[in-house]
Amino acid sequence: MSLAIAVLLSGNGSNLQAIIDAIHRNEIDVTIKVVISDRLDAKGLERAKKANITTTFIEPAKYQTREQFDEALSEILERHKVNFTVLAGFMRILSNQFVTSHLGKLINIHPSLLPKYKGLNTHQRAIDAGETEHGASVHFVSPKLDDGPIILQACVTIADNDDSEQLQQKVHLVEHLIYPKALDWISKGRIELKNDQVFFDGDVIDDKNRLFTL
Ligand code: GRF
Repeated sequence: MSLAIAVLLSGNGSNLQAIIDAIHRNEIDVTIKVVISDRLDAKGLERAKKANITTTFIEPAKYQTREQFDEALSEILERHKVNFTVLAGFMRILSNQFVTSHLGKLINIHPSLLPKYKGLNTHQRAIDAGETEHGASVHFVSPKLDDGPIILQACVTIADNDDSEQLQQKVHLVEHLIYPKALDWISKGRIELKNDQVFFDGDVIDDKNRLFTL
């Protein structure tokens, strides 16, 4: 049975687009039940509508607490019979309660080679630190920000003259490869989260499987 997912986003939605494109090319057995945004002007909502996917806007101002917002979110996920949630540039921190109740069923993509450069502004920080490599990571979401067990990572080389925008573009290209790939593994039941560890085909995932190579 196809993996029924929701995609949560706040902005451009190029990762959503990569997932939609992989579905349309029949590369992954995934159904996007709903795309949810906390921003009405998110370009990702337009991308979803164009692909005939149901969209929902949750207005943060309507909720007094993070928990109340997350309850509304949970209700939408239940209503759409979602069994896996995919964060793709969703710029809100989720409550511990939400994260704990979705443990193992909630993933994120982060623009760095975690555990390096958690948080924002990762590209500039990697350049400023004189790194020669940077990248992206798909990981299970845990209560600590950008800290969950890693499923898949991809590296890019930082050229001497790369600015943060150029580097961001390079990272986006690999993000668009690894997010659909991770979803493919998940939809086939190859990935599991147990005791804070990622299992791939029944064994603790090793670096060889975790590192995506072109
Ligand atoms: C990506 O860089 C992702 O790693 C981060 O937010 C960005 C979203 O980009 N979490 P897009 O909206 O998918 O284009």
